[in-house]
Amino acid sequence: MNKIAEKYTDEIEKIIAKYPPEQKRSAVMSLLYIAQREDGCVTKQDIKEIAEILEMTTTEVKTLIGFYTLYHDKPGAKYRIQICNDLPCALRGADEFIAKLCEELGIQIGETTDDGLVSVEPVMCLAACDKAPMFQVQTGDGLEYHELQSVESTLELIETWKKPQGDLNTPKNG
Ligand code: FES
Repeated sequence: MNKIAEKYTDEIEKIIAKYPPEQKRSAVMSLLYIAQREDGCVTKQDIKEIAEILEMTTTEVKTLIGFYTLYHDKPGAKYRIQICNDLPCALRGADEFIAKLCEELGIQIGETTDDGLVSVEPVMCLAACDKAPMFQVQTGDGLEYHELQSVESTLELIETWKKPQGDLNTPKNG
């Protein structure tokens, strides 16, 4: 069953129409976005469908998901904390920050807390190199950036997510 293709036929057709027929594979990022918006991640079925629609191989589609940190091929936490530990941030203590935060949350890097609320993963440069420790938080609703963080301010932020209808609020010292 072509779930994405059937549910979003009009949206997909409009996107593909923006490109010359021989370059319709250029629509791949938009179709990945639709799939992830629908499922919280890009499933194997989504990959197969997108590859068929755009006449790509499933390997080509999977490679893009692996390359871009904002796409995921597995379900994850409600709040994905993606911390930059590229060299400039590493020099400002990003690795120690990640290790301490994971310790406080009782998880290893890349894991999700038992309640499914938070995961922590390292990512490459997020263009705030003088503001480490810094991270982006990815949710189903979008992205938010937090700079000059401490473990304490990050834990405060996470507490706000536990409240009913908690929003992505920046703690006082964040
Ligand atoms: S190196 Fe971390 S934001 Fe650029």
